[in-house]
Amino acid sequence: MYKYLKVYHSPKLAGEVPISGAKNSALPLMAVTILSNRPVKLTNLPGVADVKTMGRLLENLGAGVEIGEGYGIFDTSSLTGTTAVYEIVKTMRASILVLGPLLGRFGNCRVSLPGGCAIGARPVNLHIKALQQMGADIKIEQGYICAEGRLKGAELFFDQITVTGSENIIMAAAMAKGKSRILNVAQEPEVLQLCNTLKEAGVDIQRVGEREWEIVGTDGELIPIPDTHIIPDRIEAGTYLAAGAITNSQLSVVDVIPGDLEPVLAKFREMGYRLEVEKDKITIYPAQTIQPVQIVTAPHPEFPTDMQAQFMAIATQADGVSLIEERLFENRFMHVQELNRLGANIVIRGKVASVYGPTPLVGADVMATDLRASSALVLAGLIAKGETRVHRIYHLFRGYEKLIEKFRNIGAKMEIGEEPRP
Ligand code: EPZ
Repeated sequence: MYKYLKVYHSPKLAGEVPISGAKNSALPLMAVTILSNRPVKLTNLPGVADVKTMGRLLENLGAGVEIGEGYGIFDTSSLTGTTAVYEIVKTMRASILVLGPLLGRFGNCRVSLPGGCAIGARPVNLHIKALQQMGADIKIEQGYICAEGRLKGAELFFDQITVTGSENIIMAAAMAKGKSRILNVAQEPEVLQLCNTLKEAGVDIQRVGEREWEIVGTDGELIPIPDTHIIPDRIEAGTYLAAGAITNSQLSVVDVIPGDLEPVLAKFREMGYRLEVEKDKITIYPAQTIQPVQIVTAPHPEFPTDMQAQFMAIATQADGVSLIEERLFENRFMHVQELNRLGANIVIRGKVASVYGPTPLVGADVMATDLRASSALVLAGLIAKGETRVHRIYHLFRGYEKLIEKFRNIGAKMEIGEEPRP
């Protein structure tokens, strides 16, 4: 049988959405347990496919992994393997996050090269270059990154800001011999949580500039990674606020860190929505008229690329032309044609999508292509007349915990559909 998501016209939503732990913080925190001399308990762990995949990868390396409802316990004291196999890495490119820790702990490892994905080639050359500057000998053999050598502290500069590249090198530097100074480091909240966790483990790690860190490594000595409560998922929170926006409903997200969402909240306000921001709760209120918006995606603290597709869906209902420029990934407009199938009027010129609104949307069959694009199609399905069928929904469940349950609890009508394969 073939599964897809049926989204029915749900013009008004109401209530509160509890936000789960951040997938993009859970993944590096699971990887950093490789450096731990004690079992690590991660709480607020989101029950999403990517977390399960990283759990399988750690198990495949010989770690003890227990993943339950909202938590995980990771014991890497008896790691036996240092190879991250293709079969697992091909399903989740963030598997690359074990490269730095494995090399730092064992002095050698083989990690399958993550392939590209729908949104772009997404090379890992900057991860490799930095490890080479730290003394690693790295070859690419039969699709694997083969790395060996004792890591030494170094002066490093990232030619381009990279989130997992920063995380990989920060973890490697924590194990290196001597001091590293790393420049042009990503400062996403998920990167900062990893750094705080290393600091709590006793690593000498200092933020000496906005994008500059100094780390004195332990020369391979394992560290007591503390039990850690994962920060809320700012992109999940933004996605549900976008659901409130596109249906022009009053809606709240709770268990959030509003400060992590500033650039996103600013854009909601520019589009005419009123927001009430409390300590760990944000409420969005309907706009009199939804205003068109100009968005340029860039590394944190600027507007996140992971919210680009969701805002494009909202912009189809804005009263005018919105301009959305995607600067991080070369192919992150796959949702445009799908939104146009629903009746949107979006034109791509180079890196800029022009969204002409408002356009009434009508339900149709659409194809999910990546995690965030698929959430944009669900949002559009809420206001499209009739029924929208979102295919390849495995993308959705990689990063949104209990999505159907959370949406139903605020009045959205959706269900899993099944059909025999054509
Ligand atoms: C992280 O991916 C996130 N994933 C992505 O979220 C997010 O979209 C992205 O950062 C940007 O914010 C995780 O954290 C697990 P990058 P990452 O390295 O680290 C280029 C989601 O939806 N680059 O910051 O892979 C790269 O091609 C996912 O949860 C190189 O050229 O992204 C891209 O153009 C999707 N060489 C840019 O840098 C490198 O060695 C930013 O990529 C590394 C990156």
